Amino acid sequence: MDRRSFMRLSLAATASGVLIPTAALASDKMSGAGGIYYTKEQPGRWAAKAGGHVPLITLQKSGADTMVEVVTPHEMKEYEHFIVKHILLDKDYGFIDELMFDPTKDAQARSEYKLTGYTGAIYALSVCNKHDTWLSMAEV
Ligand SMILES: [Fe+2]
Repeated sequence: MDRRSFMRLSLAATASGVLIPTAALASDKMSGAGGIYYTKEQPGRWAAKAGGHVPLITLQKSGADTMVEVVTPHEMKEYEHFIVKHILLDKDYGFIDELMFDPTKDAQARSEYKLTGYTGAIYALSVCNKHDTWLSMAEV
């Protein structure tokens, strides 16, 4: 392999290594669904568990503010089986906020967040100690 071919190959490898994951995320917001995380539409190996794990998002708008309520209709059976946390992400999957649950005190996996001046998609993640991470989306 001559130097020019090597350089071309190296550039292509670098470009694909850097660009493909980013491009995949940008073009397919649900990439990883059914494997890395689960959704109502792609429950993967937990198909029978979707009903109790998909986070339910409710929005309440008041002027520039939006109250976001996230509820996971899942049991809180102390440390045996419970929702560990909720995480709220913005349209670029940037972290907004999270709430950890204490299964000895929290009877329900419910969290609230206040967004001011935000528009666009939001994503809620709900993490079960046995059945992994579930994602829902809502449009603010
Ligand atoms: Fe679970």
